[in-house]
Amino acid sequence: MNACKRPEDDSRPVIDLALFGALGDLSLRKLYPALYHLDREGLLHDDTRILGLARQEVKADAFRRRVTETLQTYVKDSELDREAVKRFIARLDYLQLDFATAEGYRAIAEWRTAVRRDTEAYPLVVYLAVPASLYGDICRNLQAGECLDELSRVVVEKPIGYDFESSCEINDAIGEVFPESRIYRIDHYLGKETVQNLIALRFANPLFGTQWNQNHISHVEITVAERVGIEGRWGYFDRAGQLRDMVQNHLLQLVCLIAMDPPANLDADAIRDEKVKILKALQPFSENRLNRDVVRGQYIAGTINGKSVPGYLEEEGANRDSDTETFVAMKTSVANWRWAGVPFYLRTGKRMPEKLSQIIIHFRQQPHYIFDPDQRNLAANKLIIRLQPDEGIALEVLTKDSGLDRGMRLRRGPLHLDFSSAFPQERIPDAYERLLLEVMKGRQYLFVRRDEVEHAWHWCDSLIAAWRDMGEPPRRYPAGSWGPVASIAMITQDGRSWYEDY
Ligand code: BG6
Repeated sequence: MNACKRPEDDSRPVIDLALFGALGDLSLRKLYPALYHLDREGLLHDDTRILGLARQEVKADAFRRRVTETLQTYVKDSELDREAVKRFIARLDYLQLDFATAEGYRAIAEWRTAVRRDTEAYPLVVYLAVPASLYGDICRNLQAGECLDELSRVVVEKPIGYDFESSCEINDAIGEVFPESRIYRIDHYLGKETVQNLIALRFANPLFGTQWNQNHISHVEITVAERVGIEGRWGYFDRAGQLRDMVQNHLLQLVCLIAMDPPANLDADAIRDEKVKILKALQPFSENRLNRDVVRGQYIAGTINGKSVPGYLEEEGANRDSDTETFVAMKTSVANWRWAGVPFYLRTGKRMPEKLSQIIIHFRQQPHYIFDPDQRNLAANKLIIRLQPDEGIALEVLTKDSGLDRGMRLRRGPLHLDFSSAFPQERIPDAYERLLLEVMKGRQYLFVRRDEVEHAWHWCDSLIAAWRDMGEPPRRYPAGSWGPVASIAMITQDGRSWYEDY
């Protein structure tokens, strides 16, 4: 097998990138800006080339102009560097292609030969920024068109299917052409700086290593709130809902990173094996727990930041009697020795007051309490991990209140690590920059393995089936609120509350 050449330059391997869906929203908003940033930072090899593929008939020059415009829109002015834009745009080519028919794919192999100045074998990275229904056809056609070899990799976006069965069909179709070791399933949350920091925080700090279990942690809270609604994606979202769109992938990945045992090393499979154990240990919801422990919601019209916004059923293209949920809150648990008896409270919703993703680890109280009885509720530490915005970590600790008249009154205060002030020079890269770089380097640890997808679907499918049997519509919540009142009741019935320090 031909290894990717230039081993002396492993940090910037040469690749040919074939980007399917080159004029789609994901490519324009995320992928070109991410690739541009990599280029600007010197992380794209000079010989790396990018071929945009889409159905539209567009000349290569017009395509390059379109990408230049998109950079002007989605990259901050202070980060738009004329020379870097010019260099990046010069890497681009365009090929009009009907993805579903095999004819035409040979042109990809021809393009690769045409743009190469030497005879080395470089990996072809195929990025499928297209609906999952096309993944199988594209993979088969790439093979029939003799575009692939043993170095080729494929990158696929979520959602991988709609349920367990459809995810198997999609994975089978990709798997007929690519082995698992060359399939990169994106969950963009895994590329976020703070999400990766969970691994460093947990496994590099002995302080947390010794405390990270049911003896010391009382409960875990994860909130992923979005201010946006469905952004013109009614067709996709109404079929999916917030459970499939956000919980099946992003929130469960966060649960895995919080709950998993230490991997033996940082190899992709060592990490993914541990994550799969958590997904297998996630408790299914029994019928009698469903009403107590899960709340589905759907937003109605409301106000965000002083601006009126429509309800879900009034969104563009809406079907007026949809029961799709735009909010989910749940209390779940991981049935193993480390986490027995520790609830994981998860909530995620659209049209909430803030864009906010955070994880709160609530530590247990001391076994014997000696301070003011009125302050007993205060007396526990919390670790607050803020994923976005304002990435940072804070440990809430108790100290004595100052002042001569306060006696031994306690007060809470944070030990605070705010990334942007602690490390001011460093730009926090977008998740896609890191993920694209890892694909180029051929490292899979930030990508989701097939069994992870399947176990996550198993768990979600059982919840969706239970909802269906129950037949209750989602509870309404006004846009701009933190979800249905029932989601607050869900946690207060356990004598707790959502952490609200924003
Ligand atoms: C996507 C979902 O995977 O994640 C969107 O399909 C959601 O509905 C988005 O808005 C949220 O990502 P982020 O990075 O903005 O939190």
